[in-house]
Amino acid sequence: MKEILKRARELADKIKKREYVKIVTHIDADGITSGAIAFESLRRAGIDCEIKFVKNLDSKKIEELSNEFVWFTDLGSGCIKDIVRFKLDCVITDHHIPEGYYRYQLNPHDFGYDGSYDLSGSGATYLVAKFLNPMNHVDLIQLAIVGAIGDLQDSKNCKLVGLNKFLIEEGVKHGFLKVEKDLRFFGKQTRPVFKMLEYNFDPYIPGVSGSERGSIELLRRLGIPLKDEDWRRWIDLSRGEKRAVVSELVRICMKHGYPLSYIKRIVGECYILTKQVEGTELRDAMEFSTLLNATARYSKADIGLRVCLGILNGCDEWAFKKARKLLQQHRKNLSEGIKIALDRLREFKSVQFFHARDDILDTIVGIVAGMCYCKANLDKPIVAFANCDEGVKVSARATQRLVEKGLNLAKAIEIACRKVGGHGGGHKIAAGAIIPKGKEWEFLEEFNRVVEGQIKAQP
Ligand code: C5P
Ligand code: C5P
Ligand code: C5P
Ligand code: ZN
Repeated sequence: MKEILKRARELADKIKKREYVKIVTHIDADGITSGAIAFESLRRAGIDCEIKFVKNLDSKKIEELSNEFVWFTDLGSGCIKDIVRFKLDCVITDHHIPEGYYRYQLNPHDFGYDGSYDLSGSGATYLVAKFLNPMNHVDLIQLAIVGAIGDLQDSKNCKLVGLNKFLIEEGVKHGFLKVEKDLRFFGKQTRPVFKMLEYNFDPYIPGVSGSERGSIELLRRLGIPLKDEDWRRWIDLSRGEKRAVVSELVRICMKHGYPLSYIKRIVGECYILTKQVEGTELRDAMEFSTLLNATARYSKADIGLRVCLGILNGCDEWAFKKARKLLQQHRKNLSEGIKIALDRLREFKSVQFFHARDDILDTIVGIVAGMCYCKANLDKPIVAFANCDEGVKVSARATQRLVEKGLNLAKAIEIACRKVGGHGGGHKIAAGAIIPKGKEWEFLEEFNRVVEGQIKAQP
């Protein structure tokens, strides 16, 4: 921890010497929160800045940035070679597996931590923000937690761990956060309970996940009214009612013979942003992250950014309303996307894959791929393809169990990309890339070969 804080201070010192900083960040929840933390901390430090959202980085984009001073957040570590080649003057706060060592990079992997669970892009950015404004930064923790949850950093242990815990302690101490044991489903604050149940896929509950009728049936069976004056949300249920629902979900999983480790995923640590209004997406880190994805993944990251800055400086009603509208469409796209993906999903040797072609947006095909585990084979990684302007987008997702068996998707993607001429990166459990059109089969063969080797190499 001491070493990582020392690095954070060095990065902050380098930034403080500048009058203008260009922030370059990623188009997802962690990317927006990282960007917002960087943006707000620069503003507070009196440094001019501008923010640019990108889907991914490549040599061309790096070269274009070579005349500016850049703060890369939630990306950059995968492009160290190009950053050095084009002599960029920059700092990086990221958590993806680094391509190499870089003096002005704060990445948990460089300090013996795992960037998939121990610290997110927004967490790394927060550590630098701390030194930019030593007296005025703790409120930014709210965003750092939303970023970590958006990247599913709690998914391994059903709670945040590692360096994230340090942030939580600080957030709780200053009254910005509350940790609660509760259902780990998306939608507790805002969705009617039966919709929340229908949309949950982790863990998949047979007869309930993906089924509106099954979800309503479950509540009826327990004698829980669906409606008061309005549809009842999870937060409207009494303690007894909540307990009854959780017991019923557990019972269903047990009836289907699911292992305890699977059933335990129903309940876990949930993170409440205590300063935000109850019953809004902003109150719950899970929902906040989905709200941000619903803006960023549709080229509307500026709206997500305004929502983030709004929680620090007084709610931006206009942006919040817009984001909520986008969220409605995002939820629809996800549920339609899952149907398409499951329909097309095929097994291929040691992997399974589907090609979304033009039917699922390249920016959400990764989210859809992950959610496919509700039905897909848990023993094989999922590879998704989707057409995009630059070629073909690849998104790969795996399970924790596969990672424990030796699987490393980021590595597999990197090797397969080298063969077909693409560029990608990510984490052991989730990775992505862009490859040339028409190279899908060649990519899949090579990817499969590497995956097989990784899993076999383990004792
Ligand atoms: O850029 P990147 O860090 O955004 O994204 C991390 C990705 O890893 C997300 O898509 C997140 O959902 C995924 N992930 C996952 N399962 C986990 C941990 C992370 O699919 N257990
Ligand atoms: O791309 P990655 O795998 O990050 O996607 C994780 C995101 O998927 C979460 O931040 C959330 O927005 C969304 N999600 C959801 N409902 C689920 C599971 C994930 O909205 N049941
Ligand atoms: O895009 P997707 O959600 O599948 O991304 C999964 C992970 O792979 C993310 O961490 C993302 O940053 C990384 N990725 C990458 N290069 C790409 C696409 C995705 O490093 N071209
Ligand atoms: Zn991230």
